[in-house]
Amino acid sequence: MERPAMEQDDRIRTFIHGFDEKIGGGIPPGSVVLLAGEPGTMKSTIAFNILYQNALREGRTGTYISLEQGRENLTRHLVGMSLSPKDVEARVSIVDLGMIRRNLDGMAQRTWMDIFKMYASNLKRSLNYDLLAVDSLPVLEVMARFENPREDLFQLFEWLRDLKATTILISEMKPGSEDFGKHGEEFLSDGIIHLKMERVDDANIQRRIRCVKMRGTSHSPNYYTLIFQNGILQATRIIAE
Ligand SMILES: Nc1ncnc2c1ncn2[C@@H]1O[C@H](COP(=O)(O)OP(=O)(O)O)[C@@H](O)[C@H]1O
Ligand SMILES: [Mg+2]
Repeated sequence: MERPAMEQDDRIRTFIHGFDEKIGGGIPPGSVVLLAGEPGTMKSTIAFNILYQNALREGRTGTYISLEQGRENLTRHLVGMSLSPKDVEARVSIVDLGMIRRNLDGMAQRTWMDIFKMYASNLKRSLNYDLLAVDSLPVLEVMARFENPREDLFQLFEWLRDLKATTILISEMKPGSEDFGKHGEEFLSDGIIHLKMERVDDANIQRRIRCVKMRGTSHSPNYYTLIFQNGILQATRIIAE
C-alpha cells in the first residue's frame, strides 16, 4: 500500500476523493469539527460516509446521533446513496434521539443536554467509538434550551473533547449565510468544512466544498466542486463552463 510521505497515518480520512490530500491527509484525531452547510448540501451523507468508510476500511467504530431525521428516513436515504448502515452494523450505531424526543414531549427541557450526554457517554463506554457524528448541533441547542449559549457551548465542546473521539458536528446554515454557527461555534471548533450550493449560470447549480479551518494542518482554503457518483464522493477543481 502506498501512502504519501510525511502524512500522518492516524488522520481520519473523509474518503471524499481528492479532498483528503487538501487537508493533510484527513482530520486530526480527537478534533471537534463543524460540517456546515445549507439544506441539501449532503452534510448527513458526508458525515455518515466518514463513519461508513472508516469502519469498512480502517476498522474504526462510530456512532451517529440523529436528532431530527428519523432512523427509517435516514436509512432509506443512505441505502439510496450506496451507504447501507447494514454493511457496517457491527461497527457503526445509529441513535435516533429524535424518536426519544418525540416520545418524551412533556419532559423538563433542561434535561435534554443530559439525555444527549448520557447516550453519547454510555455508547462510548460500551462501543468505545472512535468517531461521533451529531446531526445536528443547532437542533441540540434548541432542544437543550441554552440559557447562556456561549458558555453552554464552551462547556459542551469541552465535554466532547474529553470523550476522546473525533467528533463531527453538523451545522445547518441558512442559504446565502456565511455564519458557520450562531454562538461562536466557529471559534470553539478545531475545524470547519463548509458545503454550499453555487449558481454557475442561469440554470445550473453545483455543490461546493471547502476546508475553512483545520487546526494543526496546512490546508487549502479553496472551494472544490463536490460530486457524488456511483457511491463515491469526490472533490474536483472548479472548471469554468
Ligand atoms: N442517489 C443519489 N445521487 C445523488 N444525489 C442524491 C441521491 N440521493 C439523494 N441525493 C441528494 O442528496 C441530497 C440530500 O443529502 P443530505 O446528506 O441529506 O443533505 P443535508 O444533510 O445537507 O440536507 C438531496 O438533495 C438529494 O438531491
Ligand atoms: Mg441532513
